[in-house]
Amino acid sequence: MDMAQEPSNASRGARGEPMIEVERLTRYYGPVPAINDVSFTAHKGEIVGFLGPNGAGKTTTMRMLTGYLPPSSGTARIAGHDIVNDSMAARKLIGYLPESTPLYPEMTVSDYLHFMARLRGVKDRGAAVERVMSQVSIDHRADDLIGHLSKGFRQRVGIAQALVHDPKLIILDEPTIGLDPRQIREVRELIAELRGDHTVLLSTHILPEAQQLCDRILIIKRGQIVAEDTTEGLTARLGGGEQVRVGLGRSVPAAEMRAALDKVRGVTEVTGDGDSYTVTVQPATDARAAIAAAVVGNGWPLVELNLSRLTLEDVFLELTASDTAEEAMEAEMVTEEEAD
Ligand SMILES: Nc1ncnc2c1ncn2[C@@H]1O[C@H](COP(=O)(O)OP(=O)(O)O)[C@@H](O)[C@H]1O
Ligand SMILES: [Mg+2]
Repeated sequence: MDMAQEPSNASRGARGEPMIEVERLTRYYGPVPAINDVSFTAHKGEIVGFLGPNGAGKTTTMRMLTGYLPPSSGTARIAGHDIVNDSMAARKLIGYLPESTPLYPEMTVSDYLHFMARLRGVKDRGAAVERVMSQVSIDHRADDLIGHLSKGFRQRVGIAQALVHDPKLIILDEPTIGLDPRQIREVRELIAELRGDHTVLLSTHILPEAQQLCDRILIIKRGQIVAEDTTEGLTARLGGGEQVRVGLGRSVPAAEMRAALDKVRGVTEVTGDGDSYTVTVQPATDARAAIAAAVVGNGWPLVELNLSRLTLEDVFLELTASDTAEEAMEAEMVTEEEAD
């Protein structure tokens, strides 16, 4: 999917007010920090992805933001409420789907959601439960015991409980982990529908999931954010955008080729000589047609024109590349083919 065409991306320039402000958050377990000096901001209405291999510190960060784990140092504010000093107010604004949802197998879906609604101080609980059951399409299983549901349906119940008090901020910790491909698609569609009304912070170790769902991606590795940008922005900033390979039917002097292509909009560099050139263009300016016109306009026979894009996956793998082979195995990075 080309995220550039999502409406939320088009409006990204006009950012909403900050919903999550994280400042130098650090958490130690013993001598090693699981999260080390992490800062970031998520704005109202954004879907922000927390992307990183297992053990990167995603869950630790989310547990601090939701008030389940005190930071060792640093702080965070949820819509201006400090997660430590103003924890109750901050927590009220958050709906949280933990890594493993503590659902009650012996309760029915409806009873469980009523119970969660009461815990969260929802006034019109009947209406709230109806609303979230319909939102996650679980109304037809309202009277079933949670223990009898498939993993996909249990995950929907988990998302429903995170939505029952209509929170401004939804924090989802690896919401599709352990689901089958169809369930993964359904849960991703559900999350996409939250776009705009809510701010969503979503963790995943699956790159295509982050690309598909998120307006902005924070790549986290060993407790630190190693990159933060839009999907396109990340690719462009870290990889140099797009390149067009131009093959000619006969040799053309490099100076002439450069002179001709330098005039094409978006072209930033021309390298090569003779009958083979590589033209670097600004990201997302597919300049192939203009390059072809310039070549042909000079009477040079054009025999090859190939666009190569550095994918975000290339960037991700490079950024989170482990220093040792064992670490690489532990990291269990998932690629597009495996994920879908
Ligand atoms: N309760 C804990 N006690 C000790 N170490 C922990 C604990 N929870 C997490 N860690 C360690 O902190 C690091 C980050 O873990 P986590 O936040 O779960 O990462 P992620 O969610 O990205 O997989 C890992 O090295 C993990 O082993
Ligand atoms: Mg985790």
